[in-house]
Amino acid sequence: MTTKLLNVALHVERNLIFGVSRDEKMPTPGEGELLIRTHFSGANPADIKHSTHLGIYPARLGYDFLGTVLQAPSGSAFHVGDTVAGYTPTGIDRPAKYGTHQSYLVCPETMAYSVPENLPSDHAACLTVVAMTAADALYNLFKFPLPGSSDSNTAGPLLIWGASTSVGICAVQFAKASGVFPIFVSASLERHALFQELGATQCFNYKSPSVVDDIKSVLRNYHCEGVKYSFDAVGSLNGLGSAQMVASCASPDAILVSVVVQKDPRFVMPFAVTNEDVTLKIPGVPHLITIPARKEDHERAWSALQWAVSNYGSRFRLVSVDIFKGRAEDALEELKALADNGRGFGKLALMHPLQ
Ligand SMILES: NC(=O)c1ccc[n+]([C@@H]2O[C@H](COP(=O)([O-])OP(=O)(O)OC[C@H]3O[C@@H](n4cnc5c(N)ncnc54)[C@H](OP(=O)(O)O)[C@@H]3O)[C@@H](O)[C@H]2O)c1
Repeated sequence: MTTKLLNVALHVERNLIFGVSRDEKMPTPGEGELLIRTHFSGANPADIKHSTHLGIYPARLGYDFLGTVLQAPSGSAFHVGDTVAGYTPTGIDRPAKYGTHQSYLVCPETMAYSVPENLPSDHAACLTVVAMTAADALYNLFKFPLPGSSDSNTAGPLLIWGASTSVGICAVQFAKASGVFPIFVSASLERHALFQELGATQCFNYKSPSVVDDIKSVLRNYHCEGVKYSFDAVGSLNGLGSAQMVASCASPDAILVSVVVQKDPRFVMPFAVTNEDVTLKIPGVPHLITIPARKEDHERAWSALQWAVSNYGSRFRLVSVDIFKGRAEDALEELKALADNGRGFGKLALMHPLQ
């Protein structure tokens, strides 16, 4: 008697209704792609927001993963049985096989890496999207030298606003590893000790009404009028908005970066997925928008990710990863809550197969 394989998946339908499917359909890898049994998938705000905000539906949800290779192309660097992590492509008409919140998924070989023993499985499943976004900001938009490179262009000041976001935590550690100085961060007061340990030169409380004045007064100790490299790692629209707080601290020649699209044209946005063109539907724009690939930038960010993987647990880490184990319907509610209000500090990994 043969046991049928069940694929439990979180999806969004054509009418933008989110749901769970349980079927025996295995995704089929194309040329240069791996078939993977999922052990953990990492949750991101994008899992839901890419459907509701950027028109990516119908689709199976999820981008980040860790799993075991079930099938690899001949001549591949990967073999059946390897433990791999990575992320999958995005964009309008995204094939269902790329959803990572399902028991079996497909990933292009170029978007996966072998997981070393120093990197815990649940952490690996949550790492790629946020580390690639932080790396794109630091190494492609700010053009800081990669960790370990002999380049000496490390002059700050760098400000990371909302350093407690997972993108921000990666950015602080990359900046420290690249020798950037000084590194200013804004975060809740209770996290300042953590950021001093991770490499921040000075921490500020983003909830304080005097935070911008506090930053400007410390800048004077460094004989700076404003921050040269200003990174909004939150993308919050509450109050003045985190991007405008960042802009208030910036020097006239600053490079301004925000994790989400800003109306202020001085801002540029880092992107987790720069290896292929990505087509999206932006609210208020009547036609589809294609963000062109930046293949060299992708390589540079990917090498920063690989540095983080090799140095995981010693010079780089995600500070907190929770594991969800249980019913697929409950997992979907977790994703919705995460997209609506955020779940606060830390990452969430879904354990597969979901029930
Ligand atoms: N462009 C891309 O490709 C890309 C990729 C990934 C993520 N993103 C975007 O990046 C942002 C961060 O995502 P994430 O998953 O890293 O976030 P996250 O881990 O869910 O962030 C949670 C943290 O956000 C902090 N926070 C919330 N509101 C804040 C505010 N107004 N000011 C400062 N800090 C605030 C809180 O810090 P405290 O604990 O200190 O209060 C909280 O601990 C999201 O907008 C996401 O959509 C973009």
